[in-house]
Amino acid sequence: MKVTPLLAVAATVFAFSLPAGAAVDADAANKMIKDNGCTKCHSVDKDKKGPSFKKTAAKYKGKADGEAKITTLITTGPKVKFDDGSEEEHKTVSNKDPAQVKNLVQWILAQ
Ligand code: HEC
Repeated sequence: MKVTPLLAVAATVFAFSLPAGAAVDADAANKMIKDNGCTKCHSVDKDKKGPSFKKTAAKYKGKADGEAKITTLITTGPKVKFDDGSEEEHKTVSNKDPAQVKNLVQWILAQ
């Protein structure tokens, strides 16, 4: 059948465009923020030294670059400003396995 290769391509494209949110592993994300000390400065719904994850999720809601921005922040550790005006390199995750980092970022954006 001549159409088969085309159907296979369509199926592949569809598989990659499925919403990723459904697969978020909240337990793994929670473990990661505890193990990396993120909870010292962040919580899901309260601002600490850093913004709450709910606030961050709201900030990036509907924006395509949210995932990339957070991934860069927690893997490269650029300087961030604290409320008292001081600057410090942002904490990075010790486990930089792309799948683990992606899971964490998607969990943050789902708060
Ligand atoms: C020493 C305190 C501190 C620790 C530890 C810390 N953060 Fe942050 N984080 C901040 C501050 C301060 C900001 C705000 C930066 C800004 O607005 O420029 C921030 C911002 C963020 C943001 C929002 C970024 C944005 O673009 O709005 C996310 C998401 C985040 N941190 C995740 C994490 C994760 C994940 C960890 C653990 C690996 C972590 N943080 C550890 C202080 C911290």
